[in-house]
Amino acid sequence: MKSSNISPFGEGVQKYWDKRYLYFSKFDEGIQIDKEGLYSVIPEETGLAQAALLEASSVYDAFAGVGGSAIALARSGKKVVSSEISSERVAMCRNNAEVYGVGRQIEFIEGDFFDVVKTVDAEAVNLDPPWGGTSYKEHGKFLLEHFSPDGGEILKACMGRFKEIMLRVPTIFEMAELDRFTQDYQVHDDVSDGRTISRTVVIRQF
Ligand SMILES: C[S@@+](CC[C@H](N)C(=O)[O-])C[C@H]1O[C@@H](n2cnc3c(N)ncnc32)[C@H](O)[C@@H]1O
Repeated sequence: MKSSNISPFGEGVQKYWDKRYLYFSKFDEGIQIDKEGLYSVIPEETGLAQAALLEASSVYDAFAGVGGSAIALARSGKKVVSSEISSERVAMCRNNAEVYGVGRQIEFIEGDFFDVVKTVDAEAVNLDPPWGGTSYKEHGKFLLEHFSPDGGEILKACMGRFKEIMLRVPTIFEMAELDRFTQDYQVHDDVSDGRTISRTVVIRQF
């Protein structure tokens, strides 16, 4: 059934609802989403381009949300372990992966990144932590400490642990923030519908 054009999550996120088919081309085939999932999901084509940046065949998707990145990684042939702290979004992620026929390539863990990262077995990690809501641009320059949880703590937990670390950052992110971890990284523009919506940093180690 075709979804209504009126956002079920209120006027404040109508502009994100208008992009729902960019987020999931199969949106009307049973995709489940909540308000935070709606404004934080990576668009489908952007997620697929991002997944192609990784050489690894196994990836830990640490902040899985409603599954935009996890589904893209699985569709790109990677084995995925996902973690998400919200039980509701874990269920949505699982459901959405089934809509795309990749549910069996993804392990779904309900849990805190800082616990899961200690035991997970994967070559690469995908980090798409929250930017603190839709008003993140008020920071002017976005710093590691503006991620929630703190991006510095997240990177610290991953350095020396994964061959590839992929981090999605706002376009206003201050890249010099990374210098305390490494100066050896690549930056890619995340494009959706012809517009750069975020950037992805890839750090390769070992
Ligand atoms: C930006 S969204 C991820 C979007 C995802 N890449 C997608 O495309 O759907 C960030 C997610 O991280 C989750 N999260 C926040 N803190 C977490 C933590 N400590 N451990 C695991 N997940 C966490 C939030 O609940 C939210 O769903």
